[in-house]
Order: sequence, then structure tokens, then C-alpha cells
Amino acid sequence: MLSARYGQRVSAWCVTGEPIITPGPSMRHDGRVEPIETLAVDDINLSDLGGFWTRPVAEREGAFLTLRRERPFAHFAEPITDFGPPGAGYYAVTRYQDVITASRSPELFCSGGGSTQIVDLPPEFLEYFGSMINMDDPRHARLRRIVSRAFTPKRLADAESTVADVARRIVAEVAPRGSCDFVSEVAAALPLRIICEMLGIPDSQYAYVLEQTNTILGASDPEYVPEGANIATAVLTAGIGLGELMKELGTQRRAQPTDDLTSALVNTEIDGERLTFDELASFFILLVVAGNETTRNAISWGLVALTENPEQRRAWGADFDGLASGAVDEIVRWATPVIFMRRTATGPAQIGEQSFAAGDKLLLFYNSANRDDSAFEDPFRFDITRQDNRHVGFGGYGPHFCLGAHLARREIAVMYRELLATLPDIVAAGPPERLQSMFINGIKRLPAEFTPR
Ligand code: HEM
Repeated sequence: MLSARYGQRVSAWCVTGEPIITPGPSMRHDGRVEPIETLAVDDINLSDLGGFWTRPVAEREGAFLTLRRERPFAHFAEPITDFGPPGAGYYAVTRYQDVITASRSPELFCSGGGSTQIVDLPPEFLEYFGSMINMDDPRHARLRRIVSRAFTPKRLADAESTVADVARRIVAEVAPRGSCDFVSEVAAALPLRIICEMLGIPDSQYAYVLEQTNTILGASDPEYVPEGANIATAVLTAGIGLGELMKELGTQRRAQPTDDLTSALVNTEIDGERLTFDELASFFILLVVAGNETTRNAISWGLVALTENPEQRRAWGADFDGLASGAVDEIVRWATPVIFMRRTATGPAQIGEQSFAAGDKLLLFYNSANRDDSAFEDPFRFDITRQDNRHVGFGGYGPHFCLGAHLARREIAVMYRELLATLPDIVAAGPPERLQSMFINGIKRLPAEFTPR
């Protein structure tokens, strides 16, 4: 047990990455993160996974500030990965308006040209990871039409009571203890359980599904893929495992439908279309990876932000329903759990002064766009009462805009309603242990403390 509550100390570890007791030069007493520009524009290398992405948050923010101001379409060589030889590099799109423009012009900047990650996915990967997020119209529109039925208002309303039940159980389990690892015991437990319950995946498979998704999304962190292991093989194996699980379930539900989502997806036809088992498998993988780690990290960063900003947390506690919608969106903007998505130029194209040629890769850095002062007043301040929060945490308002955004918002709101009601003094009791990744802004562990109930 820590001798002093983290939330009662003046500290800036979420900015510097280190637990420190007195305010660092990077953070003011009002909880605002002050970006530090330690790198000259030519020294910034976004492909340096172990270097740039492990820097203190304030320095990363400073580097993106420099890029937005001085080189909004900086070109970088690609990182070396196990997924194949690096390509010709990518443009880092860092300004808010440019991220929106690229997202809304799928005919010029497509999602199907290899993948939405930096490297083009080899064909064996596309079988499992080639879901709609990596497709363009008309295939994307067809799939989105079919799976959208999973996210109708009625299904979301049904899910709401499941979300509330699951949140209550999770909080009740840790409540008597007075402390817990917030990530694994609270934040991670919710989204995976919801997706599995919606799809009808049996309880006995939760742990397996969690382990495989950790491998897929945490592939660049040595903790999730043992040293010396081939990352591509580990990710492919995890994808195959999840795909097989879903094909089995889909086969059962086609023979004996229930009222779960899997039954709806494999049995309902829209204009003569329904999902094939392969499409079901890759959609499932997309759902568990897209809906699981993202929501978990939003909830975890939320506790960090609310601990750093006790006055906002008090305000939210005093008027939960009145402030919930703004608070949830501010948590997603602040956390930006998905750091980027890639687009590929389909031919000669232009954004502002910048020209692109066919095949050029553009990485849309949502984290940077969400700190752009042309779109957000005082962008480095966490403010649950922020107005007109058109953040790009769920994407840049194009055809791939997050399908699960409403579900995610509900999950975050319901979890915080439960937490603030049952454990009103819960705080982050130490620094978040960050995931080493340039794709997911993740927290692996976060100690939390509260008065036992
Ligand atoms: C805070 C939580 C979440 C964040 C930050 C997030 C973020 C994103 C982002 C940035 C995209 C890409 C948007 C684009 O390319 O324009 C996306 C797409 C997607 N998300 Fe989410 N997401 C979250 C939760 C969820 C949940 C809970 C689900 C489902 C259970 C989900 C399912 C999807 C799907 C299916 C897509 C692909 C949509 C398409 O290609 O048409 N997401 N999400």
C-alpha cells in the first residue's frame, strides 16, 4: 500500500512518465499538460518505436506541436517490423483539418490499398485481419450495411442493461479490497465481456480471447510477445485462433439460432446478403481488437485525468448525468486510444500545399489532431465541460468512422457512473505503466486506491 494517495500529492508523472512528488517544469498546478519542445523538427522520428514513443508524454506532445507548426506533412522512413520489408515511407498528417479532409475523401485516400497499418498486410493476414476497416466501397459499404444491424438503437438499448450489470459486478468485486490494478481488474474487464456477451461467446472463452487480443494489439511491446519470438507469427496465430472460435460459433448459430448478435449476423439477410463464415471471423477479430483495447484505455486514461483534475471529478460526481456526455467525449479526446490510421493515395492528390502520388501512405495522427489549437480552445487542458468537442478520437468523420462509438460512449459512462457512486474517492495511486506502441495509446497497469466498501 502506498503511504500517500497519489491523487492527494502534487505530481506530474502522467506527463513525464516518472513518479515525481513536486510539480515538474512540464505541468502547471491546474493539471494542464505543458508540451515541451525538446526536439528540433529534423530530429523527430516517429518511426523510432523504442525511442520516440517511450519519451515522456510532454515531450511527445511537444514534438507533435513542432510538426503541426513547421512540417504538417513530414515524411518518415518506415519502422523495421517482422511483417515484411519496409515500404517507401509515410507522410505524418498532424493537423486537425488535414486529418478530416483525408478521412472524408476515400476516393482519393483509400483504406484498402494494403492496410490501415504502416506495412501492407501479406495475403495470409488479410484473410483474418482484412475486415471492413481495410476495405473500400463497394465492399466496405456492403459489410458495413450488414454489420450495422449489430449496432441498432434497439441492440444498444439491450446492451445498456448488460453493460450496467457487468460494471456493477466488476466494481463489487474490487470494492472490499481498497486497492486494485485498475487496468486488468476494472477497465479491461468491461469491454471484452460486453462484446463476448453480445456475440454469445461462452464465459469459459473470455480469458483466451483476452490473451489473443493482447498479442495482436500489444505486438510491439516485449511483454506480450516474448523476446526472440517472431511477432508476425504470434499475431497471425492469435488471429487464426480467434477466427476459428468464431467460425465454430457461427456454425452452431446457423443450425440453432439464439437471440445473440452472432445469430443475427449469420442468419439475417439484407437484400439477399448475409455474412460468410470467413467474413464473420474477420469481423469478430475487428470487433474484439477495435472495441476492447480502445475502450479499456479510454477508461484507464480517464482515471488518470480525473485524479490529476480533482475539481473536475468533484463537479462530475455532483452532476453525473448533466456532465456525462461531455465528460466521456473529453476522456476520449484526452486519451486518443487509437493514435493513427493509414490511408493510401489512389492517384495524384493534394491537401493544401502538399501533393501526393498514387501509393503514397498517409498516417492520420488523431492524437496530434486532438491537440490542434485551431480546433480546440486550450487543447492541453482536460475539461469535461468543453463545448463543441468535435474530436477525432473515433476517426475523422468519414465512411470508416468508428462503428462502436455509441457503444463505447455508453460503456465509459456506465463504468464511471458505477465507480463514482460506489467508490467515490477512487484515485490512481501511482504512475500508469504505458504500452510501448505507436498505434495504441495504452496503459498496461495502473494502481488504484479507494476506501473499501
Ligand atoms: C473509446 C473506444 C474506441 C475508440 C477510441 C475507437 C476508435 C476507432 C477509430 C479511430 C476507428 C477508425 C476510424 C476511421 O478510420 O475513420 C475505428 C473504427 C472502428 N471501430 Fe472503433 N473505437 C472504439 C470503440 C469501439 C467499439 C466498442 C467497437 C465495437 C464493439 C468498435 C468497432 C469499430 C469498427 C467495427 C470500426 C471499423 C469501421 C469501418 O471500417 O467502417 N470500436 N474505431
